[in-house]
Amino acid sequence: MEEAHTPEKAAKASTSYGDPGFSAFLRRAFSRHLGFDDADFEKPVIGICNTYSEINRCHTHFGPMVEAVKRGVLMEGGIPLEFPTISLGEVFTSPTAMLYRNLAAMDTEEMIRAQPIDGVVLLSGCDKTTPAQLMGAASADVPAILLTGGPMLNGEYEGRTLGACTDCRFFWQEYRAGRVSDEELEEINQALAPSAGHCMVMGSASTMAACAEAMGMMLPGAAAIPAPDNRRLRLAEETGRQIVRLVRAGIRPSQILTYEAFVNAIRVLQAIGGSTNAVIHLVAIAGRLGIELPLSLFDEIGRTTPFLANLRPAGRFQMEDFHKAGGVPAVMSELRDLLHLSCRTVTGRTVGENLAAYRRPRHEKYYEVIAARERPFAETGGIAVLTGNLAPRGAVIKPKAASKHLLKHRGPAVVFDSVADLEARIDDPDLPVTPDSVLVLRNAGPVGAPGMPEAGMIPIPKKILAQGVNDMVRISDCRMSGTAFGTVVLHAAPEAAVGGPLALVRDGDWIELDVENRRLDLLVPEDELAARRAAWQPPQNRATRGWTRLYQEHVLQADLGCDFDFLRAVPRR
Ligand code: FES
Repeated sequence: MEEAHTPEKAAKASTSYGDPGFSAFLRRAFSRHLGFDDADFEKPVIGICNTYSEINRCHTHFGPMVEAVKRGVLMEGGIPLEFPTISLGEVFTSPTAMLYRNLAAMDTEEMIRAQPIDGVVLLSGCDKTTPAQLMGAASADVPAILLTGGPMLNGEYEGRTLGACTDCRFFWQEYRAGRVSDEELEEINQALAPSAGHCMVMGSASTMAACAEAMGMMLPGAAAIPAPDNRRLRLAEETGRQIVRLVRAGIRPSQILTYEAFVNAIRVLQAIGGSTNAVIHLVAIAGRLGIELPLSLFDEIGRTTPFLANLRPAGRFQMEDFHKAGGVPAVMSELRDLLHLSCRTVTGRTVGENLAAYRRPRHEKYYEVIAARERPFAETGGIAVLTGNLAPRGAVIKPKAASKHLLKHRGPAVVFDSVADLEARIDDPDLPVTPDSVLVLRNAGPVGAPGMPEAGMIPIPKKILAQGVNDMVRISDCRMSGTAFGTVVLHAAPEAAVGGPLALVRDGDWIELDVENRRLDLLVPEDELAARRAAWQPPQNRATRGWTRLYQEHVLQADLGCDFDFLRAVPRR
């Protein structure tokens, strides 16, 4: 009988020919053209899992980074071997990169496990690549270090700092409102993405890099170094050295990614006002290790975390400034008393030991970017979790990126049945909408869209923009980009397409949002809702074959991280 293929098996298991001696003989023969001699076969083999693609512009600068990692591996006595995995660029992947995050995670997991490697450096950058790599590495559980590509440098237009994609969205809204001309829009377009790297505000890519660093899977300081900065190449080389040491020390992701490490990551997420997408991704990564992170935990940690980072879209500065001010280590040093300091990291040392060796840049201007613990920008963190009869299993909002006056709001619903319906009707002059309306988008969740696209920052209807109104309460079962902003409630679970209460809302129903009390409610009597529920029919959007069918049949809801049911481990906490 064929032996089960499990993560517990050594990564260097033989190819199955029914004769282990022949398998080793064949591998040696096929390795010789790489120039290896017998002594090399005894060295640790380090896979470099490269998500480079010319179609993923956030990863196009990976070549020199890979070379630097290889140098580091060689200098430390390992053998570096690069291999490709799926690349997911946000802007060029349709219908949404999120539809393929689990595919990328499976690719990473299976290739780490299938190939004869002792350790792996995971290269990522654009939004979904970092969680996918971490999910795969967590399941494969071979010694691993993440290395992200780093953020772009700041853009600039007419003296104003530009950030992708916060300003992509801001100026597009200004254009729709008629306040920016065609010519200006074109000039802005040329300045929005001025260098290699991922989006340079605290969007999903920057957030996931920061979380990865906070939970110990990247070298300290790695998240924020801009892509073109030569310190990133030196970091890449050090990452190559360190992965060999990690292999020799036998330290695996499961020893780093503990419950306490995730709590540290959530603490940092809340302190930096990071992307709501990180909630989904952290739950998914933890789920690979059997660790449960209920949404209530995010809210609980948010209520006791000072808001320390003045970063767009919730604040003023961008990743380049964040890096100069000290980046994640500076945030963690300020949060020291709130962190689990005994968590192990890829340095081989604990969080506490890493911080003991760290000195935060002292110039006072850096405290405008990362506040001192005693003088936070706000007393609580950046993400709040709501529940109520519109989202019994939770929804999320970024209060710091919302309009204060809308955080407690009652208004009549204007419902869009799908992303296509939204696109068709949002600017209809006859749309029954006022500035007080609550825009509802449904059937845009993991199953409904499918893939849970970033459509949650529903455009403000043109006729409302024309009244000088730039924000409204918006509610959906989809996500929004971490670079987006506004009074936007996301990830309502369960989603409408599986019968969640968003499916029951009708135009004109009153909805109440109360962020302070963490409530989101549809103000319709329960007997009426029961009648609507009984009459509800699921949308006919199920794929009949291929990846999308697998996805729709197995994807979990947002509160469980949108991973596949068969990829999560058995809960251990
Ligand atoms: Fe890749 Fe924004 S498009 S991080």
